[in-house]
Amino acid sequence: MLAVAEAVRADEPFVPPYPHRHAKVPPLLELLRLLRTSFLDVWPQSSFELEFLQSRVLFRDIFICNSPATVQEAFVDEAATYQRKSPQMRHALKPLLGDGLFISDGPVWQERRRMVAPVTHVSRLASLTPPITEAAAERAVEWAARDPAEPLDMLAEMGHLTAQIIGRTIFGRRLGSASAAGIVQAFAEYQRVVRQTDLFSLLGLPDWMPRRQPRRARLAARRIDVILEGLVDNVLSAEGRQEASLIRDMAEGVNPLNGRTMDRAAIRHEAAVLFMAGHETTANTLAWAWYLLSQSPATAARLRAEADALQGRPAGFADLPRLPYTRAVVEETLRLYPPVPLLAREALRDGELAGRKVRKGSLVMAVPWLLHRHRKLWSQPDAFIPERFLPGGEAASKPRYTWIPFAIGPRVCTGAAFGLTEAVLCLATLSAGFAPRLVPGTEVRPVCRLTLRPGDSLPMLLDRRHA
Ligand code: HEM
Repeated sequence: MLAVAEAVRADEPFVPPYPHRHAKVPPLLELLRLLRTSFLDVWPQSSFELEFLQSRVLFRDIFICNSPATVQEAFVDEAATYQRKSPQMRHALKPLLGDGLFISDGPVWQERRRMVAPVTHVSRLASLTPPITEAAAERAVEWAARDPAEPLDMLAEMGHLTAQIIGRTIFGRRLGSASAAGIVQAFAEYQRVVRQTDLFSLLGLPDWMPRRQPRRARLAARRIDVILEGLVDNVLSAEGRQEASLIRDMAEGVNPLNGRTMDRAAIRHEAAVLFMAGHETTANTLAWAWYLLSQSPATAARLRAEADALQGRPAGFADLPRLPYTRAVVEETLRLYPPVPLLAREALRDGELAGRKVRKGSLVMAVPWLLHRHRKLWSQPDAFIPERFLPGGEAASKPRYTWIPFAIGPRVCTGAAFGLTEAVLCLATLSAGFAPRLVPGTEVRPVCRLTLRPGDSLPMLLDRRHA
């Protein structure tokens, strides 16, 4: 069941759809059934009001940190105890990412983090943004050539756009442009067929017991590995090295911890991490933003006023200070529909949280989906109000860990500045010429597989602004 988007008075904010909230926690079998469809569908009303939740599913204790203070305790102060990703996440992504930093912990994570984080660091943004500006401008030209009466799937469209951008960023302009589509297809196939509800892990069975993924998932992972192998070899050839790319940057980096460089397998795994972490997250953010804008005329008008000030130029790094409202729209979109709506960790040893004992092996979570819509933290928590993120708005006065779409603590997203900038620049460039409109009669439903998305597709019509 879905709380349908509320059609409200023009001067009231838009309340976009969210899944039905149960009166109490569903019984176990129902819970497992709901988990298989979308993990957003399992939450009772009380989860949006409590500061800390504790339960037991089969043989595993689960703790949910649901206030800024408890989030800080687990993910910042006690990060060493809760650094390991949940078994579900590790087993679902291992065939794809190998020992990539997204699912590793301990010394491997530490070493890789020191190599990967610098390549997309905020201090390098100016040199990283040209592929964003370029790809968004190309997309505007393609949109202009389309028949405006022909609907387009905005979710897939934003997937292609962000894949182009991250592809060019990781592999360089030439190779990235040519290979993005093939990798996206294989990633999408993997996500479609991978088994995410890992019953063995829920039962508390040890890590060494083999969890076999379906054959199609293994084949998709193998296909990605082969593509990446070819690409990495190409990028690191004498010709490839002439172009700027994150692979080149990683290969040239020297680890300050041990003076070592990364070998090819490590580079390949981290390239897979960057592609996976850096493409669908931003694509979903953009797709949600287009949907929210299409339902909120006043907000869309204010955003377009900023886009118009660009006077037909595609937005670039230097324009960022002139796009505060566009940024607020992106930040509010990330509050309502955080692409990674659940951060789950496994306790590496016994510990304590919010005064309760946490046994080794327990699952400890922060759930942006809950925290970002918490009754005690936000006014009108389910409404779309970008103004709260403008200077002096509600968000500015919140404790630090109230808004956590990029996670927090030592494992915070290394591409946060890049992803936010990418969403702002793409939205500004494309809004200058187009006012995407939802195809009438479309029901939009938030679902979460590996990431939170507006269902499987988002059909929209590309209305022109300046005919
Ligand atoms: C709107 C866009 C993005 C969002 C919302 C987002 C969100 C996140 C979140 C929540 C995590 C932590 C996951 C967890 O703890 O389970 C994460 C990790 C990560 N993200 Fe992002 N991300 C975005 C874009 C990007 C981009 C563009 C890149 C790379 C260019 C990137 C690279 C990474 C990496 C490498 C990690 C793993 C960090 C670690 O484990 O140490 N992300 N991201």
